[in-house]
Amino acid sequence: MKYFWLILLMGPVFALNYSENISPIIYKNCTSCHRGGQIGAFLPLTNYDEVFNNRFWIAYAIAGDEDSRHGDPIMPPWPADRSYSDLLDAMYLTEDEIHTFLDWLDAGAMQGSPDEEYPMPDFSEGSAIGEPDIVLQMEEPYFISGNYEDDYRCFILSTEFASPIDLSAMEFIPGNMEAVHHAIIVAVPEGSADALDNADPEYGYECFGDFGTSNISDFLGGYAPGTIAREWPQGLAQIIPANSDLIMQVHYAPLITDQTDQSSINIFIKDEPVERYVQEHLMINYLFALPPNEITDVTATWMIDSDISLIQFLPHSHLLGKSWEIFAVPPASRDTIPIIRINDWDFDWQFFYSPEYMIHLPAGTVVEATCTYDNTSDNPENPNNPPEWAFWGDGTNDEMFFVPFRYISYEDGDENIYLGDVLMGDINGDGDLNVLDVVSMVNIILSDDCPASADMNADNSCNVLDIVQLVHLILL
Ligand code: HEC
Repeated sequence: MKYFWLILLMGPVFALNYSENISPIIYKNCTSCHRGGQIGAFLPLTNYDEVFNNRFWIAYAIAGDEDSRHGDPIMPPWPADRSYSDLLDAMYLTEDEIHTFLDWLDAGAMQGSPDEEYPMPDFSEGSAIGEPDIVLQMEEPYFISGNYEDDYRCFILSTEFASPIDLSAMEFIPGNMEAVHHAIIVAVPEGSADALDNADPEYGYECFGDFGTSNISDFLGGYAPGTIAREWPQGLAQIIPANSDLIMQVHYAPLITDQTDQSSINIFIKDEPVERYVQEHLMINYLFALPPNEITDVTATWMIDSDISLIQFLPHSHLLGKSWEIFAVPPASRDTIPIIRINDWDFDWQFFYSPEYMIHLPAGTVVEATCTYDNTSDNPENPNNPPEWAFWGDGTNDEMFFVPFRYISYEDGDENIYLGDVLMGDINGDGDLNVLDVVSMVNIILSDDCPASADMNADNSCNVLDIVQLVHLILL
């Protein structure tokens, strides 16, 4: 009883309020998209009133089902199951953050003192990488009708590259952040898609699940809101073949007002010698039939014949897709390696997923991917009502099964290469630069190892010169 009164008395003091407890959660995780001019502009979340007025909608979108929360909440958009594998740049709220929001709701959703509000982050505009070597822009603005329908469009950009380009990064810059939902870029031999463009009276041509043409190159770049473009690390690069056009497939989200878009592509050329080229294996299965009113599993495998390091993958299906699971079974007695699981496939949120560290797949490994398709009327995305037979094809009513995997030939130590942004000098990875990093650095030098974060002067070796630079940084 004594405690009961104590809690009652303390209640008001500890009551959760927007300014102190909720604004940091929203501004750090939601506002980059949910503000004017961005893909989530229909629901701006930039101040107390906007969050208060939509608090139940937000609770629905972030809370999901407690038992299977990884990947299941609708927002932030991150369909991959975080309990299955560790992927780079995962967007999610922690259990604590979700409960803080729900508790705040229960406690009356008070504002608190506006002075205590978390400062709005400085959302960067333009390139995340820096000054591009080449910029290719859509020749003219494309008109998007405000008819509240999805629009899938391919645009051809000519490159006029007479020799192949060592690509360090390809960054898609949406011309209209509110309209562009995602984009994928490939190269084709010059002129080979022109007939498609010429046959369509508007700029570009309609395309849904692919590019409408064969002879396409590896996937060169992509975009989805929230993705971070990066240069390939160290001596890695991809190739843009000589004499090619780029095709950019853009998905425009439903809009309620007429708008235009004129997106562009930033090309960054590798300025150091290329040691390994990024290769792509396209795992594909055309041979499936999805009977109506049934749930069907489709599987494909990839036999690895020499050691590789896996660095990216993009599972792709259309609207009947329900879930994905991809894992690798190495030879001998080693454990199965989980790659990615998506419990609730969402055509709208397709990312090029990267593991945090390169994954070593030794020769003899079998990579297995399964997509489960729900061709029943329980699937709210089913384009056919009543359900109909579905086969491979590039229309909205057709289905697909493919996964581009990006990899390089394996070298010793690849599994220690972090694929995200390295904080130079943060050798123990605690997000801070201090004397502990100097201690780790000394150990590294004694051990002959040399991770990217320790090679301060980028001379491909770790030695006393790196210590000098690190100490200088710490004292700064
Ligand atoms: C990467 C961009 C992005 C981020 C980050 C993001 N959203 Fe969204 N949100 C969207 C888009 C786009 C939609 C429209 C639906 C869709 O495309 O999935 C949406 C839809 C919603 C909806 C409506 C969902 C529905 O189905 O009714 C709510 C509510 C929402 N977001 C809240 C949030 C909250 C809260 C956060 C942060 C915890 C957040 N969003 C983070 C882009 C984003």
